[in-house]
Amino acid sequence: MTQARAALVRANEIAPSLEDDAEDVVAGLTVPQKRIAPKYFYDEAGSQLFDEICELPEYYLTRTERSIMERNLDEMAALIGPRAAVIEFGSGSSRKIRQLLDNLDGPVAYVPVDISEAYLTDMATALARDYPDLQILPVFADFTRPFDLPSYTVSPSRNLVFFPGSTIGNFERAQAQSLLEVMRHEAGPGGGLLIGVDLKKDPAIVRAAYNDSAGVTAAFNLNVLRRLNAELDADFDLDGFGHEAVYDALEGRIEMRLTSLRKQRVSIAGHGVDFLADEHIVTEYSHKYSQDEFAQLATAAGLEPVRAWRDERALFSVQYLTVPS
Ligand code: AVJ
Repeated sequence: MTQARAALVRANEIAPSLEDDAEDVVAGLTVPQKRIAPKYFYDEAGSQLFDEICELPEYYLTRTERSIMERNLDEMAALIGPRAAVIEFGSGSSRKIRQLLDNLDGPVAYVPVDISEAYLTDMATALARDYPDLQILPVFADFTRPFDLPSYTVSPSRNLVFFPGSTIGNFERAQAQSLLEVMRHEAGPGGGLLIGVDLKKDPAIVRAAYNDSAGVTAAFNLNVLRRLNAELDADFDLDGFGHEAVYDALEGRIEMRLTSLRKQRVSIAGHGVDFLADEHIVTEYSHKYSQDEFAQLATAAGLEPVRAWRDERALFSVQYLTVPS
């Protein structure tokens, strides 16, 4: 599937809409604990709202990661070495990749992998203008399953999987391990992984990041229902659900919810879904790791933790791992 879709994107055709995912979405809403996967947040409006989240004063993740990168790029580049092919998992926006590409020693290729076709195409076009010597080979794929890498015209000395932003936090620990295994597979023997990981800290700081005072996170969360209405013929009343984000200290994660404000029935893709008052849909987990926990997870996935950089408040980390050759 991934190869066929990658070819489609290169031919600039239209990406499939949510219609293909109707079964998956309905299945998530017809189990006792209702859920909608966070990958569905990112239609065009959702991607824009996420960009706004990244600018919020409470949302420390993006700016902290950026400053960790800025301060340590020389050391990162030295560890990664010359002529790398950079494979970015979930390449939402192009800002972070430019920072990395500008500091690496003669990178030969950039392979953005994403399910959001709009962003992927726009970004590839803009990057191609500014990096005329770089092979830009977008892959339209769900990166949680192994996919075929495009063939390079100039062969790299190693693959570097780049996965910034703590998106790995969306996955439950067992899934995060299998995702690291997919990354290990894509990077291949001798390859490297550079991953942004949000750290465990005072829960008040974490809670504020997902309950911002401007209400942007609430709008981002509710946008997924608007999307289901538009694309899956659903009839969610956007005033009938509220945003909640609770920190589960035992699991070490934020749980984002859309909570039904009353008893109601919603129809979606021809199915009726009943909600009790106060019943919630889980829309996202955002796991936080201690340094030791993450190193253990990486080791369990067959990776070698090489180096981890943090900010001075130890809010966030960027981890460099390698694949044994
Ligand atoms: C993009 C998954 C890293 O978990 O912090 C931001 C998404 N959700 N605010 C996160 C998100 C609510 C974000 N990740």
